[in-house]
Amino acid sequence: MTPTTQLRIHRSATSESTQAFADDVRRGLSAHPKNLPPKYFYDPLGSQLFEAICLLPEYYLTRAEDEILAVHSEEIIGSLDILPETLLELGSGSAAKTRRLIDALFRQGRSTLRYVPVDISATALERSARELLGKYPTLRIEAYASDYDTALVRWRTERDGSTLALFLGSNIGNFDRDEADRFLRSVRHALRRGDALLIGIDLKKSRTLLEAAYDDALGVTAAFNLNLLVRINRELNADFDPRAFRHVAIYNQDRGRVELYLESARAQRVRIAALGLEVAFACGERIHTENSYKYDLDEISELARRNGFERRATWFDRQRFFSSNLLLVT
Ligand code: AVI
Repeated sequence: MTPTTQLRIHRSATSESTQAFADDVRRGLSAHPKNLPPKYFYDPLGSQLFEAICLLPEYYLTRAEDEILAVHSEEIIGSLDILPETLLELGSGSAAKTRRLIDALFRQGRSTLRYVPVDISATALERSARELLGKYPTLRIEAYASDYDTALVRWRTERDGSTLALFLGSNIGNFDRDEADRFLRSVRHALRRGDALLIGIDLKKSRTLLEAAYDDALGVTAAFNLNLLVRINRELNADFDPRAFRHVAIYNQDRGRVELYLESARAQRVRIAALGLEVAFACGERIHTENSYKYDLDEISELARRNGFERRATWFDRQRFFSSNLLLVT
């Protein structure tokens, strides 16, 4: 097979819609309290800033999950009832951690493997797919450049063979409880008995560690957060002054989540020309931009059970900061 026949990318119209962005910005900045959805962090600069966050000393999540996969991939694959023919990865990004699992699958006897990455960014998909094909000549890649729901619905009609789904990086943490349930149910709906989901989930820990992870000394997370305003300026012709906003990260222990805000440093008015909208900010007023939920093991078991899975096993890094959970379809 030539490299081109080994790679198919399905693109969906929903992948990059300026209209949806405009509607969400209008809704969020007209609401009380003001908010913006975190999915808009990931424009080209935001995606690079997120990659930089993953290298920060304070942001332990990526390193901890990579450590788990480096040490335990064989055991994770060994705990499955069936050696899967398909690896379906939701939010694949650069797929760096996925290689650990692909290696383990090949070592444990698969000679070919279908890899189905789903990511909103077609560029990221194409780049990582080509790298993977260079490394694994017997891999076949069916990539979906779309949101998760669209990809799951399409993939379900085309799927065959047993599947291990992956949702790494504690991306589930950016969903509130209802959204997490809805997401897991739609994954469950796309899977069959005998299939499984490996899900990376960040664990509850001290406020000091959590707040440092989301407010690093170099200010990379602050830039990641403030870039949302720069994106609104560029795409919706607005006049936000990013220097007039401050990055705030707070661990809300009652709700078990780190909350990110952009706080207005003074009273100001911002004009968003493409929306014909002027937004007033009081001094100290905040835009809520992200939640990052942290779980304990009981909450993970409950999350699984409520949505048609059973938590079969969990692996941790040495510091027990992070968890990789194997959920079986029930
Ligand atoms: C992508 N997601 C899991 C990150 C998190 O930890 O919630 C996003 C992030 N926001 C600030 N730093 C990282």
